[in-house]
Amino acid sequence: MIDATERVTATASAPMATPRPPEPAVRFESGFVRVERILAWLDGFMARWLPHEANPLAHAGAAANVALSIAIVSGVALLGWYFPSLQFAYSSVSSMGAHTVGGWVRAVHRYSSDLAMLFVLVHVARIFFARKFSGTRWLPWVSGVGLIGLVWFIGWTGYWLLWDQPAQQVAVTSMRMLDALPIFGEPLGRLYVADRMVPSLLFFVVFFLHMLLPLGIAVGLAVHLMRVSRADLFPHWKMAAALFAGLALAALLVPAPLDERAQMALKAPAFTVDAWYLTPLALALRFQHAGLWVALFGTMALAAAVPWLFGRRRAPAAYQAVVEPARCHACTQCVQDCPFDAITMVARTDGKRFPAQAFVDPAKCVGCGVCAGSCDSEGISLPWFDTRKEEARIETEIAAARTIGDPAWVAFVAGDIDSGLALFAATRWRERLPHFQVHFVPTASWARPKFVELLLKNGVKGVLIVRDARVEAAARDGNRWVQDRLTGDRKPVYRPDRAAGSLSWCVVDFDPARPAELAGAAAAFRAGHSTEFLIPRRRHPFVVALAGGVLALALAVATLAPSHLPVANPAPAEPEFVFSFRALGDRLENGIVDAALEAAKPIHMRGRSTEKPHRAAVTVRLTINGVTQERSCRAKGISHDGPALDEWRQPLMPGPHAITLEIVTGPQATPVRWSGTVHAEPRRLHVVTFDPDTGFRVE
Ligand code: HEM
Ligand code: SF4
Ligand code: SF4
Repeated sequence: MIDATERVTATASAPMATPRPPEPAVRFESGFVRVERILAWLDGFMARWLPHEANPLAHAGAAANVALSIAIVSGVALLGWYFPSLQFAYSSVSSMGAHTVGGWVRAVHRYSSDLAMLFVLVHVARIFFARKFSGTRWLPWVSGVGLIGLVWFIGWTGYWLLWDQPAQQVAVTSMRMLDALPIFGEPLGRLYVADRMVPSLLFFVVFFLHMLLPLGIAVGLAVHLMRVSRADLFPHWKMAAALFAGLALAALLVPAPLDERAQMALKAPAFTVDAWYLTPLALALRFQHAGLWVALFGTMALAAAVPWLFGRRRAPAAYQAVVEPARCHACTQCVQDCPFDAITMVARTDGKRFPAQAFVDPAKCVGCGVCAGSCDSEGISLPWFDTRKEEARIETEIAAARTIGDPAWVAFVAGDIDSGLALFAATRWRERLPHFQVHFVPTASWARPKFVELLLKNGVKGVLIVRDARVEAAARDGNRWVQDRLTGDRKPVYRPDRAAGSLSWCVVDFDPARPAELAGAAAAFRAGHSTEFLIPRRRHPFVVALAGGVLALALAVATLAPSHLPVANPAPAEPEFVFSFRALGDRLENGIVDAALEAAKPIHMRGRSTEKPHRAAVTVRLTINGVTQERSCRAKGISHDGPALDEWRQPLMPGPHAITLEIVTGPQATPVRWSGTVHAEPRRLHVVTFDPDTGFRVE
């Protein structure tokens, strides 16, 4: 192993090349960086009054988990009041009332689901602008898209279960969407024109999906967090308790709304929807249902494609950490420190006596640089910022500066604050840190304790480390290690005896909202007021409570307002006459295949002597006030041997109308007839159905 003390003298005079950073991980980086800076500024601004630990927007993924957990628990509790049947669902919900325990549990269930969606969207926005989707992070991103789709679908099925007017829209839209796919022989949508026909089994299936799919969230989360070590799955219990208290209070003050009972014959003029989950309804009420599939799946596919649309394909060798086996003594510290679970210990390849050697998994390493600081023997390093070379270069620059009388105070600035070396604003950092020689390092924890010891031993008066303290810091919890190593709480520990007894190091969190504080911290460090300086944030408990209250109020408005969105039903108010029928055309004898037509076919397509048995098309005649229209419906099935099905909708003017319906099931058949007077009322469907078993029925 090379002794670093020797190296200073060996390299002091040699000119060293500056490192060449890998190309950015994403396209349009400057645009992302601009938005990220605004978000970081907002975080810093909020942190003046509220510590990060108490700000759910700063831990949106973990806060979403709390909201989802509350939704699951309150959902199970709701089973004490809810009756999962088409007939009794609505009455069981409406009998809960607004100001009862059941009504309160229902409101907690609804608002916690809404809050979960809000936090998930905040989480997505933060992750997106922090550019944490490219390269190896495609897996958490794509699984996240799946998770958001799953959470949305669970919410969508939940609104079906109320069986009120919005539930009717949800059910009809879902059926029409299913009917747009070539899956079911008989369209399901035609069952949703009359209360009597709505299938209760399907309602039960929806209930089961709503109950069981939350298990899928657990599976999805396991995949989602596979590539993250020590994931922040849940926030501090105090924040979880505050979220629950806020939801409980909101549910007490603002009961969950319930519309009129679903009535298939009614076109309600307006309803209250929960925009967090029912926004697709707004599209469904206006657009064709196949279009809605395209919109839903198109959006999901676009979202899932973000890592490839915005990310850059970079050669792993350009940015991922590399192990030098000859220098690895199998201490496993890098394995424990990597924030992305990217390092494992594998069998040795060099025959040395150590039991194993470190291995960097190219499918997981994001190139953060934290592991370089874990290794006392410089056995792991970034290819573009090789520890030994860069430490030597920094030593050379320090030595050169000292020969011309520059102060011997050194600052290591975590380059991830400025999004890497290419965007590193060296001049601005020098202005922020007068009297310091400023050096770029990939991330704060890159600075090895042994290197700090070496610098102090060689006459540097103090080493200041400026750390990226942003909520979505690129190196995640890896940023903490530098401090822990220097204080002796984590290996490799800082040893003052190797630094001529000096403790003159200092770690400062950089707050983009208060850059001036850095200068103050640096000055205090130089003045010897502190050797271990983190910007103290002493907030009066009253200020914290007030800020927490304001944030809670803002979150409550943001959650509840979209949850009570009144929307007008865009369906025309004019009455409609609907004839929904299922009729069996007459069976037709097998016909003889036309020999001339058969001979004209290519040889491999010939061979049938008769047509397959099939049914005649069914003719339907609708006469309204003496005006007759006619339609012919082919039998369903590949061989046209099934029933003919259709739904005929005809707008009417309000008032009485003489209507006659005729069904003719074949060329020789006698027409089956129904006549009656329909008193058309605005916003109503006047439905007549026909089925071979029951004949005509006025619904
Ligand atoms: C049910 C919804 C979701 C929950 C509960 C959730 C939760 C979490 C949690 C707890 C973390 C770990 C955060 C940390 O410890 O630093 C995380 C990371 C992550 N999430 Fe989500 N998430 C959800 C949805 C999404 C969605 C929709 C996306 C994007 C489309 C997404 C993208 C990511 C990414 C890329 C990471 C890794 C961040 C990193 O590498 O530092 N998540 N998520
Ligand atoms: S920290 Fe260094 S020595 Fe220890 S396992 Fe990792 S590479 Fe090997
Ligand atoms: S560079 Fe970062 S992600 Fe890659 S192995 Fe090292 S610590 Fe892990």
